[in-house]
Amino acid sequence: MYSKQPITGFKPDFLWGGATAANQIEGAWNIDGKGLTTAEVVQKATDRQNFSMNAVTKDSIQTAIDDPTDTLYPKRRGIDFYHHYKEDIALFAKMGFKAFRMSIAWARIFPNGDDAQPNEKGLAFYDNVFAELKKYNIEPVVTLSHYEMPLTLTLKYNGWASRETIAAFNRYTETVFKRYQHQVKYWMTFNEINAGTWGFTGTGAVDDTLAPDEQLQLRYQALHHQFVASSIAVKQCHELMPDAKIGSMLARMQSYPKTPNPDDVRQAQQDDELNLFFTDVQVRGEYPNYMNRYFNDHNITLEMAPDDLQLIKDYPVDYLSFSYYMSMVSSAKPAGEKTAGNLILGEKNPYLEASDWGWQIDPVGLRITLNNLWERYGVPLFVVENGLGAIDQVDADGQIHDEYRIDYMRKHIEQMKEAVKDGVDLMGYTMWGPIDLISASTSEMSKRYGFIYVDQDDDGNGTLARSRKESFYWFKNVIASNGEDL
Ligand code: BG6
Repeated sequence: MYSKQPITGFKPDFLWGGATAANQIEGAWNIDGKGLTTAEVVQKATDRQNFSMNAVTKDSIQTAIDDPTDTLYPKRRGIDFYHHYKEDIALFAKMGFKAFRMSIAWARIFPNGDDAQPNEKGLAFYDNVFAELKKYNIEPVVTLSHYEMPLTLTLKYNGWASRETIAAFNRYTETVFKRYQHQVKYWMTFNEINAGTWGFTGTGAVDDTLAPDEQLQLRYQALHHQFVASSIAVKQCHELMPDAKIGSMLARMQSYPKTPNPDDVRQAQQDDELNLFFTDVQVRGEYPNYMNRYFNDHNITLEMAPDDLQLIKDYPVDYLSFSYYMSMVSSAKPAGEKTAGNLILGEKNPYLEASDWGWQIDPVGLRITLNNLWERYGVPLFVVENGLGAIDQVDADGQIHDEYRIDYMRKHIEQMKEAVKDGVDLMGYTMWGPIDLISASTSEMSKRYGFIYVDQDDDGNGTLARSRKESFYWFKNVIASNGEDL
């Protein structure tokens, strides 16, 4: 008789918390020895529906270098976490956070990416942040590269387009692994590694003058370098910290066929492959066969060193983490109305509602994707981003009643719980932006995700005071009840 006990809910050590990125919160862009980063030369959006954070040229970089202010570059100011981290972490602790996902700004440690010595003041900053987290038993979950790199590496090598960047990155990873080996157990290499196919934000490479097929060639070559660098980081991490876990991080975009027409179903399968290619390499340790055909069809030839494929095979990641904001609709003959997507554009799904920014809200899709990733890979999964960017109003009583955010998160957590009951091995859930921060895509402040409100507008005006929204108290209960009280 088959008599396994049913799974009833989240594991007792489930990692509840929030996720951020250095370039969206820290500010302090030019102090204590930090170098300029790629994120700090991307101008804020003037038209939020029609803007690409990847539209960076050599000229726009020079304009940014010549501009000593943060007016057009809000990621330079963030929310000044650099000076508010104690207060912010205390608020996370009040919500009962078990984990805090954050990234290290590579340019705080190696200002130019290839300096002879690391910057001690940068290292000391993260010592302090980790010590503060430890005070409250909050587990740091550290992204090694979240949408930024030292700008010098772009100027010198065109970022990840060049193999040189691998060595620079792995000197940085070795430095931070050694320094924080007793403070950090959970690591991940590249945020949303598939962002490399979208351009500058992922690759740090300027490619605006190239023809589309040359761009594709450059981006997949850059991604190959990231795969190699990621495998070297896994090796370094395991050798130094046998108990640590290091994962990959994907912007997961589940594709649904628009109709049961087999052509649409095949299109969805293919779109899904192009999204899962990254984790196929990083989790399974191999370039999948279907990419061979894709590369041939697109005239892409990857240059590899003799040991690259063996390295990728020998050092796959321990877990798979991903961001989940939306699902996609695939059609063999795209004709439908488009919707704004997570940095890309997709067809509209008539069964789903969308956020103010046009991101289609699909909680059931989270359950589908969790099951799908678990079946495909069989490694622990970690939802490291999910949340609602919305405009919040401060009411006359000074409170922010963000029941829309609660509603969004409740529905996603419910579906996540269903996936756990389905048998998915899920490590944790760090929602995106527990404290309001600068938007990655548009650099707005008014696209707020937080449980904690930050008094700052799009132009950087405000007191930076932190206050609790209604969702703060709701999430506190969710954590206290381990996801039972929703
Ligand atoms: C993810 C990124 O793509 O989405 C985050 O990893 C980003 O950095 C988040 O902030 C939400 O996107 P946006 O553009 O609303 O900030």
